[in-house]
Formats: sequence, structure tokens, C-alpha cells
Amino acid sequence: MTTRTSSEGILADDNREKREEIIALLTKAYWMEIETVMSYITNSVNPDGLRAQEIVESLQQDIQEELGHAQQFAQRIKELYGVVPGSLDFSAEQSYLQPPEQQTDIVHVIKGVIEAETGAIEHYNRIIEVTDGVDYVTQDMVIAILRDEEGHRRLFEGFLREFEVEGLA
Ligand SMILES: [Fe+2]
Ligand SMILES: [Fe+2]
Repeated sequence: MTTRTSSEGILADDNREKREEIIALLTKAYWMEIETVMSYITNSVNPDGLRAQEIVESLQQDIQEELGHAQQFAQRIKELYGVVPGSLDFSAEQSYLQPPEQQTDIVHVIKGVIEAETGAIEHYNRIIEVTDGVDYVTQDMVIAILRDEEGHRRLFEGFLREFEVEGLA
């Protein structure tokens, strides 16, 4: 901390408390992205069947995007003079993205992805609110990430719609 030189905006000494609040929110976001990477790897490999192919390919792409989000959150934690946590601090929460009973149950995967994306969307909207007026850099970053998550959710809502129309979901 001795090398700190900033005195403006969110990096100012006076803003230490606010910074810690934002770092806590970013840390939660970081873990959410890490767990999503894990969940999307498993769910891009496990599913069987013709209908699963589109979902599998979409999740394969998302893995890279979610990993990029995790890296951005980590970087921003450091920029705010926080420390990116080690793996021992991780605790899993995505009960809804565990492997289904049947590996052909792709609706389970689609619904799980929608739930994960919804959780991210809610949390990132909160960060955008908390940073408003005090940390535009974090806010700007999270707005861009939020757009990705909204896109992911919309895509999977579309997948679900197809199964609903056919009475399969
Ligand atoms: Fe993400
Ligand atoms: Fe996402």
C-alpha cells in the first residue's frame, strides 16, 4: 500500500470504504464467473443426443466469454487495491447446473443456464447502481459484461421456447 499515489475519485483515500464495498461485489462476481466456467464446461461435454448439439456448441463459446469476464473482474479488483482471492475461498452455489439424471435432458441444462445468467444479470445491475457517480470505470466495464449476459440469456430463452412449443419443457 506504500506505493499508492492516487488521490482522485474512487482511488482516493477518502473513498476507502466505498472501494471495499465495490471490491466485495466484484469478488462475488469473480466467483460467479469462475463457477459458470466450471458449469459450462461440464454441460458442454455431458449432454447426449441430436438436439443437444446446438446447446453444446453455444456453451463451448460461452466458456471463453465467461473466462474473459472472470479475468476482467480480477483485474479490476487489483486496480481498486484489492486482492484477488485464492481458490480455497471458493464455495459453489450453482445447484441448478449439476448434471441431470439423464444426459439427454437438455431442457434441464437450458433452464440451468437461464438461471445462472439471471443471477449474473441481477448482481451486475446491483454493481452498476452501487458504482453510479463514484466509480465510472467499474460501472462501464460491468455494463459491457451485463450486455453479454443479457445476450446469453436471450439466446437460451430462445432455445427453451422451441422446446415449450413442442410441449417438451
Ligand atoms: Fe459472464
Ligand atoms: Fe453469461
